[in-house]
Amino acid sequence: MVQRQSRAVVAAVGQASRAAWCAVPLATLALLLLAWLPFPAAAEDGYDLWLRYRPLPAQRAGELRARVSQLVMPAPSPTLAAARDELLRAFEGFLGRPPAMVDAPTSPGALLAGTPASLPLLRTLGLDLAALGNEGYAIRSLPVQGRPATVIAANTDLGVLYGAFALLRQVQTGASLDGLDIREAPRVKVRVLNHWDNLDRHVERGYAGASIWDWWKLPDYADPRYTDYARANASLGINGAVLNNVNANATILTPRYLAKVRTIAEVLRPYGIRVYLSARFSAPMEIGGLQTADPLDADVRAWWRAKAAEIYALIPDFGGFLVKANSEGQPGPQDFGRTHADGANMLAEALAPHGGIVMWRAFVYSQHNPDDRAKQAWTEFKPLDGKFRDNVLVQVKNGPIDFQPREPFSPLFGAMPGTPLMMEFQITKEYLGFATHLAYLGTLYEEVLQADTHALGAGSTVARVVTGELHGHALSGMAGVANIGTDRDWCGSIFDQANWYVFGRMAWNPDLSARDIAGEWVRMTFGDDPAIVEPVVGMMMESREAVVDYMTPLGLHHLMGRGHHYGPMPWDAGGPRADWTPVYYHRADKDGIGFDRSSKGSNAVAQYALPVARRFDDLAQVPEEYLLWFHHLPWTHRMRSGATLWEELVRHYSRGVATVARMRETWAGLAGRIDSQRHHQAATFLAIQQREAQWWRDASIAYWQSLNGLPLPAGEAAPAHPLEYYQGLSFPDAPGN
Ligand code: GCU
Repeated sequence: MVQRQSRAVVAAVGQASRAAWCAVPLATLALLLLAWLPFPAAAEDGYDLWLRYRPLPAQRAGELRARVSQLVMPAPSPTLAAARDELLRAFEGFLGRPPAMVDAPTSPGALLAGTPASLPLLRTLGLDLAALGNEGYAIRSLPVQGRPATVIAANTDLGVLYGAFALLRQVQTGASLDGLDIREAPRVKVRVLNHWDNLDRHVERGYAGASIWDWWKLPDYADPRYTDYARANASLGINGAVLNNVNANATILTPRYLAKVRTIAEVLRPYGIRVYLSARFSAPMEIGGLQTADPLDADVRAWWRAKAAEIYALIPDFGGFLVKANSEGQPGPQDFGRTHADGANMLAEALAPHGGIVMWRAFVYSQHNPDDRAKQAWTEFKPLDGKFRDNVLVQVKNGPIDFQPREPFSPLFGAMPGTPLMMEFQITKEYLGFATHLAYLGTLYEEVLQADTHALGAGSTVARVVTGELHGHALSGMAGVANIGTDRDWCGSIFDQANWYVFGRMAWNPDLSARDIAGEWVRMTFGDDPAIVEPVVGMMMESREAVVDYMTPLGLHHLMGRGHHYGPMPWDAGGPRADWTPVYYHRADKDGIGFDRSSKGSNAVAQYALPVARRFDDLAQVPEEYLLWFHHLPWTHRMRSGATLWEELVRHYSRGVATVARMRETWAGLAGRIDSQRHHQAATFLAIQQREAQWWRDASIAYWQSLNGLPLPAGEAAPAHPLEYYQGLSFPDAPGN
């Protein structure tokens, strides 16, 4: 698209030069010349994501041409063909023409890519591929037949594909291709997106249009978008996709839909992406004609075994099932007096002969349980440790409640040494302002992954639990609730693409740094001009903290609007369930605020390993960012700064709004450096964000003041409207519910 447009501009300049020069007004000429300068002037709609492959400046193009003048890459499999197509497409984009395809290097600067099987020449190079496993790759600069060359080598075709994308990332981020010696293998085995996509194409908590899975046109028609989806995922190393919502419809398991699933699986397969399905636990009753779905019932077990066999006959590399059971009204084994382990193991047994796995969610809590909601998943699952079959992963949300802007890590991490625990992050921003707020989630993911569970002493990070390294599990996984839809830019905003990106990169290696990944993404998305990279990375790095500040500062949580989860509603005490109301979580009154989860309260702290429990329990040690998560305190409580809790709370709200204002200014300063279409979108969204940040601040402060009657700290502006104004707002059209 962009290339076409810039060609049009070049053509316009050409025509102008053919006309009499003197006839062209000077200003027009200057404008045309400006438009002809490198790509920022051309509009981009974001469809290409970070795989943009735009023309390089002349000097870099010259250097790259010298490094990659020839491509030696037999492609006898669909995966190698996908890798080769990607390299050719990218180098054509960077350099204007692809490298010459040759059978063996005939000049310096060849790129060789393959496995020892696809490219026997690699066997002569003394490469040690043993440690790379099934998905890793090596990229080396080394002489081949006496000529300088670059080699991408792997044990498998998929490793070569990952290596190809890694090499392209080098180019896109402006890194040199000299002296390369990269060896990479993923540290997490199952790296999946969870699509919360319904069969009617509505995406639960989706803010980027409809589901990309066009069930109506499937199985005959596979939208080319599925291939681009696969490319984007493979570029990050994502190797699985759960196609349908965890609030599952059993219809997906009927033959009619399985045929459609097969078509998607066939498109994704060359890219190393396995298809998984969310399975509704009561499916044997709903589509199987059985009277029960009891996991210990012989007929039910036989039904699932037959269903698994039917699926694998169509999709031999089917990944397995994701299950939300006995959670928020979903059916599950407890309906039949059985445990989560009984349910998971029944499905695992059906999948095991075919190599499939079960991802069983630990997101459970009940309105009939009077205990603190934050404790319920641990209470339910901890006693089941060690009772799951070895092809079961228990999938745990990052925090004990539900993807809030900030939560402490879930106490289940580290607490179930006999069970591989899979991380579930949310990429879609259900609680962080939807697609119109800029909140880079890399910092959230990093904060959780680097948190120390102390399960086996200091250094027992959540990352090491998730990789399986801490407790020695071979099976490991990370899931991200996708933010993808039919919007042209896939994610509802350009900056939300960064959240898909960072999820994939951290699923590959949970110890990567959020800042480094932001830098990569900015270079790939907007170009590597330092005048863009530094300020944009800066904005991204402070963006999520800004959201925490203006929505849920100091450990507050779950203060959003009922149902759609849009905007502030801290006063809400109604609706179907007490544990869905903000007042359940903040417990504010005229004297104080916060949920007492200390040893004097619900004692949720005791679910953590002792050193962590002590720190969270002790007012002198608890990180203030979690203060009101773990403690109920008087408004006059002295913070470490010397200010009162009330003063500090108000300051956080104001700081959040101020950060967004600063982000907006920074972005405005980049006009002209970033193409107008993407710049305009982000500028408009930042204006929305600033307005809504102010709304969150003002509505929250107005409500807290209605309880505590305290004056605002000096210098703090009063809310723009009285509390009743905010309480009167309603948003029947808010998306994603
Ligand atoms: C949240 C979200 C629901 C979702 C649920 C889940 O409660 O609002 O839409 O179904 O999480 O993760 O199962």
